[in-house]
Amino acid sequence: MIDPETDRVLITGAAGAIGTALRAGLRSRWRRLRLSDIRPVPELASNEEFVLADIADRAAVEHLMRDVRALVHMTGVGGQGTLEDLFHVNARGLFDVFEAARLAGVERIVYASSNHAFGCYPISEKVSPALPPRPDSLYGVFKVWGETMLRHYYDRYAIRSVSLRIGTFRQEPIDQRSLATWLSPADVAHLVDCCLSHPDPGCLVVNGYSNNTRLKTFDPNWATLGYQPKDNAETFRDALRAKGIDVDAADRGEWEWPEHGGSFARSPERPVR
Ligand SMILES: NC(=O)c1ccc[n+]([C@@H]2O[C@H](COP(=O)([O-])OP(=O)(O)OC[C@H]3O[C@@H](n4cnc5c(N)ncnc54)[C@H](O)[C@@H]3O)[C@@H](O)[C@H]2O)c1
Repeated sequence: MIDPETDRVLITGAAGAIGTALRAGLRSRWRRLRLSDIRPVPELASNEEFVLADIADRAAVEHLMRDVRALVHMTGVGGQGTLEDLFHVNARGLFDVFEAARLAGVERIVYASSNHAFGCYPISEKVSPALPPRPDSLYGVFKVWGETMLRHYYDRYAIRSVSLRIGTFRQEPIDQRSLATWLSPADVAHLVDCCLSHPDPGCLVVNGYSNNTRLKTFDPNWATLGYQPKDNAETFRDALRAKGIDVDAADRGEWEWPEHGGSFARSPERPVR
């Protein structure tokens, strides 16, 4: 059990888009937040401390973990960058963060996985975290690797974890696909709050979406976690239509992309360097 009053929670990637939403949504309840990133975060609240660190610097990462009970690991590189960048942060950095957490006695890990962990499933099939992963890119492969490490940590060391297969995190949905995959700022904070508050999530993988009418998932493990998203991308349908987006195409069975991973499933892999 993680105590929001007394236990220290470390959020990595705290200067990023999701990290910023988590700070806003968690800091009134979680009273001891340690934030880390390779760039500064603005306007620290009285219950937030900030530690600048590159997650591929093992010594710095070990320093970060002191007196931490729960880790929310949001550091990652996404669409842009080379394979070397991806490996540096999403593979080597991930390994060092998880290993340092384990060795420091961290009891719970919440991890930013991605819908690209199953991005090669056809969009015509509804998916569940219980199905085997089908990553659509090396980005997705490394996300699955993170989930696999957490499975190993649970089986060998009883470290509880939740891997969040995040869809499209934005202030608002941006295209036809994100009408199905949107995750709002308020809902991501509620989701992570559930992951930290749950007495014993075991080793859980959940879909990270808002309560969208067009969800293409089943058994996302939300009830297990107590996650009850409030936002629905459909609210933005007319606004997207006004921007010239064919929001009605999916109703005709014409999806923008034939796989869950969207453009990732059809793009060339990033350059090595
Ligand atoms: N935004 C989405 O739609 C989405 C979808 C699926 C998964 N995710 C995952 O969620 C996580 C957070 O996403 P986001 O949208 O907030 O990304 P973001 O790029 O806004 O934030 C990532 C943060 O990681 C930090 N970072 C990068 N390299 C670092 C390093 N070497 N050392 C320390 N910090 C470093 C960056 O400075 C940045 O603040 C990522 O792991 C991402 O892969 C995001």
